[in-house]
Amino acid sequence: MTTPPKETALEQRGAEGAKMYSPSTARNRDLIRDVFLQTMPREGEILEIGGGTGEHAVHLAGALPQVNWFTGDPDETARASIAAWIAGAKLDNLHGPHAIDVTTPDWNSTLAAPFDGVVSINMIHIAPFAAAEGLFAGAGRLLRPGGKLFLYGPFSRKGVHTAPSNEAFDHSLKSRNPEWGVRDLEHGIEPLAKENSLTLERVVEMPANNFSVIFRKN
Ligand SMILES: C[S@@+](CC[C@H](N)C(=O)[O-])C[C@H]1O[C@@H](n2cnc3c(N)ncnc32)[C@H](O)[C@@H]1O
Repeated sequence: MTTPPKETALEQRGAEGAKMYSPSTARNRDLIRDVFLQTMPREGEILEIGGGTGEHAVHLAGALPQVNWFTGDPDETARASIAAWIAGAKLDNLHGPHAIDVTTPDWNSTLAAPFDGVVSINMIHIAPFAAAEGLFAGAGRLLRPGGKLFLYGPFSRKGVHTAPSNEAFDHSLKSRNPEWGVRDLEHGIEPLAKENSLTLERVVEMPANNFSVIFRKN
């Protein structure tokens, strides 16, 4: 009996060999890049968690020539796609893919700290809450003081969904996996930030009821 592939994305992705194409990335990558350029360090070392297809890594590293961009994903198929995108992009500042699972204790210990930025796009709601806990714990250890953590995705605010479509999305996530779900920024995520010496710095409303959320390491 063959085991079905582990579900890591909610959309139907295109593929060309190992290289995967995400329809949602095609829609949001310019918007994310623009907020990223306004809010995140433009030089130094940045680590991406849950890189998925690798398209954001190529797009962001291409826009940040003074940054050394490191990317990774725990999923082998995702890493093959990231490797294919990196090979095609020919960017000197783009490195990886690393096999990083933020639910592994001390997952950051193999990486050369400190980092100026950590970024995770559309990851913490499509993973158990332990992934958010591990992400913040590792970011707290990896980031230099003043370094930034950038999250993108849907969030509820103070226990309330920001739109009926996000509430429906939350139900659909939980029906796929009871451990998944739209995270609450103030009640679920900010406490993790505080525990790990990070302060919520900025919340940027994005299309389709998503947010870019930026934390600063104290
Ligand atoms: C929905 S995809 C998003 C991919 C990409 N960031 C994007 O926006 O297109 C979520 C990714 O998070 C990764 N992921 C899930 N659990 C993780 C964990 N514990 N540690 C690191 N990455 C994880 C998955 O393998 C998957 O590639």
